[in-house]
Amino acid sequence: MLFIRNGQIVTASDSYRADILCENETITRIGVGLEAPPGATVIDAAGKYIFPGFIDPHVHIYLPFMGTFSKDTYETASKAALVGGTTTLIEMACPPRADEPWAAFELWKSKGEGNSFCDFTFHMGVTRFDERAESQLRQIVKAGISSFKIFLAYKGAFGVDDYELYHTLRLAKELGVIVTAHCENADLVLQRQKMLIAAGKTGPQWHEPSRPEAVEAEGVHHLMTFAFLHDTHCYIVHTSCEPAVRIALAARTRGVKVWIETLIQYLTLDKTHAELPDFEGSKFVMSPPLRDKRNQPFLWDNLANGQISTVATDHAPFDFKGQKEMGREDFTKIPNGIPSLEDRINVLFSTGVKTGRLDIHRFVDCASTQAAKLFGLYPRKGAIAVGSDADLVVYDPNQKWTISAKNQQMAVDYNPFEGMNVTGRPTAVAMRGEIVARDGKFVGQKKRGQFLKREPSHF
Ligand code: URP
Ligand code: ZN
Ligand code: ZN
Repeated sequence: MLFIRNGQIVTASDSYRADILCENETITRIGVGLEAPPGATVIDAAGKYIFPGFIDPHVHIYLPFMGTFSKDTYETASKAALVGGTTTLIEMACPPRADEPWAAFELWKSKGEGNSFCDFTFHMGVTRFDERAESQLRQIVKAGISSFKIFLAYKGAFGVDDYELYHTLRLAKELGVIVTAHCENADLVLQRQKMLIAAGKTGPQWHEPSRPEAVEAEGVHHLMTFAFLHDTHCYIVHTSCEPAVRIALAARTRGVKVWIETLIQYLTLDKTHAELPDFEGSKFVMSPPLRDKRNQPFLWDNLANGQISTVATDHAPFDFKGQKEMGREDFTKIPNGIPSLEDRINVLFSTGVKTGRLDIHRFVDCASTQAAKLFGLYPRKGAIAVGSDADLVVYDPNQKWTISAKNQQMAVDYNPFEGMNVTGRPTAVAMRGEIVARDGKFVGQKKRGQFLKREPSHF
């Protein structure tokens, strides 16, 4: 039993002072002046917020990619998530094109089951579409997956062609599945990479010019055309810039059912980070790339007004030593990804809520509730209500501290926010009723994380 008293409960819609009782992994009572039952673990949350556990709707943990593997395991990633207030992960299961979807689904599930301290589910990557894949995808949806992931980028690896895109969206519509999509025009990226490398432009600073904003905007437009034809629900992952967001919003006004994700990295870092000398810039290479800073006010405004639904991390951790270094002579060989699973909530609170850019309810909404609603987890997750899972974050809004790789749980040798002074931190994190993190330290005992089965929506 867990009893949290005197806290200020803050959800996507409400703010009020009350006590919370959690029994058998769920919230059983919320009220003023409740008594702590004998034997309960009691947390005094006076002066603190209590948020619903946060959800990261876009992470990579097991990721065979660009000739290497991302560094985290479910053990390290779930610890990092929980210390930072994230209690549910939605991982992209991204099989190489040649692999069978069902075997891939089982493989990804086996990486999480018995190894995770927090709950998890998957967006099932569709990296090849043919009749065999289709029947396995139907089976995967029956097994509890209600979202697909497609890539318009990474030609020859994860990328699908237009035939495959068309039929994936057709199937998704039929099954009531939402399709999450990486939108960049793969052919344009390839041509520009060749041109830049041939001109001797080989450093990480050339990654952004190889896939400029227009290339991402074209990818979004391409997806919107196909989504319109099938009336499929789509979710554009890691939207980095104003032109791409504008294309999605224009499609929405034409009736396309589209939702937009941005990342904490795009809100707070920019392309000058990838221009740092001595190959330091490689730590900031991801796709779509970090953009010109002028995009950030637009992203913040559209996050604040709800046009952008969610803030994720696209956590994809590759060490600087030995992995990012694979691209020393050629930026196209730098494994793409910037780790940030552990720091998303604190950086968003500090740079968003504390600065007044983001209303506190929208903060909860974009970092938890929206993801729960879009991906079939609500109200089990993303809410503080009787009957919801007791995933709760007791948050000190005034604690000042400095982010450093030295203290992190993420199994990667750098932190993109190194040295950033932030205000706000979870003082206690509960995962299904058990305290698993306190003051930046992981205190969980058992790997209790469960695979979350989700139902299609038949929108
Ligand atoms: O650079 C990125 N985003 N790496 C992870 C793979 C993906 O595209 O999401
Ligand atoms: Zn992507
Ligand atoms: Zn990703």
